Amino acid sequence: MKYGYFDDERREYVITAPRTPLPWINYLGSEDFFTLISNTAGGYSFYRDARLRRLTRYRYNNSPTDSEGFRLYIRDGDTLWNPGWQPVKTELDAYECRHGLGYTVITGEKNGLRATQEFLVPPGDNCLLCRVTLENVSAGKKTAEVYPYVEFCLWDAMDDSSNFQRNFSIGEVETEPGVIYHKTEYRERRDHYAVFWTDAEVKAFDTARDAFIGVYGSPAAPEAVMNGGCTGSIAHGWAPVGAVQIGADLSSGETMSFLVGLGYIENRPEEKFSAPGVINKAPARAMMDRYRAPGAFDAALTALGQRWEALLSGYRADTGAEKLDRMVNIWNQYQCMVTFNMSRSASYFESGMGRGMGFRDSCQDLLGFVHMIPERARERILDIAATQFPDGSAYHQYQPLTKKGNLAVGSGFNDDPLWLIAGTDAYLRETGDWSILDESVPFDNDESLARPLLEHLRRSFNYTRTHMGPHGLPLIGRADWNDCLNLNCFSSQPGESFQTTGPSEGPVAESVFIAGMFVKYGRAYTDICRRLGLTEEADAGDAAIAAAEAAVLSAGWDGEWFRRAYDAFGNVVGGKECEEGQIFIEPQGMCVMAGIGKETGQAARALDSVKERLDTKYGIVLLQPAYTGYRLELGEITSYPPGYKENAGIFCHNNPWIVCAEAELGRGDRAFEVYRRTAPAYIEDISEIHRTEPYVYSQMIAGKDAPTFGEGKNSWLTGTAAWTFLSVSQAILGVKPTLDGLMIDPCIPGRVKGYTVTRRFRGAVYHIRVDNPQGAEHGVKELYLDGKLLQGNVIPAQSPGTEVSVRVIMG
Ligand code: BGC
Ligand code: NOJ
Repeated sequence: MKYGYFDDERREYVITAPRTPLPWINYLGSEDFFTLISNTAGGYSFYRDARLRRLTRYRYNNSPTDSEGFRLYIRDGDTLWNPGWQPVKTELDAYECRHGLGYTVITGEKNGLRATQEFLVPPGDNCLLCRVTLENVSAGKKTAEVYPYVEFCLWDAMDDSSNFQRNFSIGEVETEPGVIYHKTEYRERRDHYAVFWTDAEVKAFDTARDAFIGVYGSPAAPEAVMNGGCTGSIAHGWAPVGAVQIGADLSSGETMSFLVGLGYIENRPEEKFSAPGVINKAPARAMMDRYRAPGAFDAALTALGQRWEALLSGYRADTGAEKLDRMVNIWNQYQCMVTFNMSRSASYFESGMGRGMGFRDSCQDLLGFVHMIPERARERILDIAATQFPDGSAYHQYQPLTKKGNLAVGSGFNDDPLWLIAGTDAYLRETGDWSILDESVPFDNDESLARPLLEHLRRSFNYTRTHMGPHGLPLIGRADWNDCLNLNCFSSQPGESFQTTGPSEGPVAESVFIAGMFVKYGRAYTDICRRLGLTEEADAGDAAIAAAEAAVLSAGWDGEWFRRAYDAFGNVVGGKECEEGQIFIEPQGMCVMAGIGKETGQAARALDSVKERLDTKYGIVLLQPAYTGYRLELGEITSYPPGYKENAGIFCHNNPWIVCAEAELGRGDRAFEVYRRTAPAYIEDISEIHRTEPYVYSQMIAGKDAPTFGEGKNSWLTGTAAWTFLSVSQAILGVKPTLDGLMIDPCIPGRVKGYTVTRRFRGAVYHIRVDNPQGAEHGVKELYLDGKLLQGNVIPAQSPGTEVSVRVIMG
């Protein structure tokens, strides 16, 4: 069942029923000011850090869900309603929500009055704007009262939701006609306040929630609205809000339109006050003036459109397959940008108060956005590398505001160092900017320990090389990519963190997955060394890689698939002798991507085992059989009920590894089949089962062992975005940046006759046309650059500013 449809022309998802299975959201803003907004206008805004600079409140896990947001109450005679349906939930005569790239438009209609809320965060500014348009579509006159409303958060979202003994006494506001300034804590150490304003003529306002909603009132029937109007309340402590009352007298066919804004203002310490206790409003006034100008809102909308057009024009496919094109050209890239902006901080599953930036997460996210914003990717790599320890290991997380490593979680996730090589290698391939390797980057954020980035990669490589276990496989540490495979943890106390309990590394537990990474990204490192003339180092590195590869093919091979690990007692994890957890997806994907067993048959056998044992109609599950009970020696993975999360859920992140692995073996039919199963646009019509947004990936879909098989969770902020984009754009459609140029290496279903891709690469534009006359799944027979036959399938980088045409014949 569907709850809307894709409007590809406008790059929008159009939701046609407000009761979506879960709130379906969008992200506004891509610099410093952000807003999460749902299809019923739920959500919240923050400046830079969703925990420390939260502008408006949001109550996670509330019932009804999604109760706070950017509300517009309309009182029309006896009828009270919201264009976004919530929170009043009056049945609407018409409803539509259009989530577009960086904007959302919600339209509701009731009793002949149509109301539209157009939301966006204007590029270059720190505010959320909402243009409200009211249209009388009835035959008679309409007299309504309209109330835009937000509830302020007292900045630190964590403290705001727990420290009531203090917070109920500190709330402060100032008001002016049409403007409410939220200035809690400005009197002391804060240099910032929020401004909620409208350019409409305002009849009255409220700033105290108790007055507007009522102490025992409900957001579904605010007392002030029910009683006929705002009361002019001034918040002294308790809960400051912004509510304004606007009259709408419209004759038949008449429209009125006004702007509502929510801005974040920072003043220099010496310019905080205009009079004792009075905030300096000059920058707020300047902000409001910017949008009072006629056409300013439309100009912001146009600027936003241009921005996204520029971002998305770097990769555009025309395959004739509608769903594929909309994922590749619009939504998958959009989600990659959102993961760049948000990392794993704020979604409807991540509260914005938890994790900082993940070391491995950020390195992998890079793979999906480096082609859109290479300069920002460069910056990000240097930030991440600066949190690495001198021995090559890494803080598992770091804080976005300070860019410092997070001590509470520490290090010991032994896959982390290798992801730095993966991210940097992707950057080098994309940009050819070798100068990044010479950048001086601190270790552990200590400038005195700064060394060139190349030295960071070297230490990453050497960390794995020198942390091998009894079978010659890398020691796993606290965990590898699978944060829940905690082989040295042995936690028996409820509430203990699986990620920090126990030693950061044991001498026995090993990871076949990290071995696969070492082969794949280790080779990327030695390749870089060789190009820099560091031949001896490259040779020594390759010897260590060969040894790891041999260990994978002996101790890491189970006969029909790659084993997962050895636990702290030296027992196999992910092998036939295991009663549960016999086969895991991760090593099959990573080892085959690394080319292990490609020539000798194990690679194909391992992927066949994935198909036989892990496939389901909704995607590939992480492991089988699911663990049915908690196991001390395995950790968090066995804490989940069967079929959820890492315990045999369909963890979308590693499905594209299988796509890439299948492509590595040239199996195009299967590569596409795996891609299609989890691709949101392809499962739109099971939205009642999948429940999360049909335009973005979720981290996890419940596996076949779960009672809710097929149900998605943790939408938006997942490494799935980057990996699926890489799998479809590079492995399937075959446009691969390499150190030598752009490789064309498609791996497609044999039935596909051809397609085109336009790719921006190092400043030049490549118009690529692939023809597949013989129904091949893989293989390039001929490649022409501007009509001239090339040897091989790598096109040397063309001069920036040029456009070339590339013709590829498969066979
Ligand atoms: C989740 C993992 C996640 C980890 C982060 C666990 O509870 O299952 O997916 O990586 O927390 O700390
Ligand atoms: C989510 C985490 O963000 C990511 O780092 C991890 O690899 C996966 N979960 C798997 O545990």
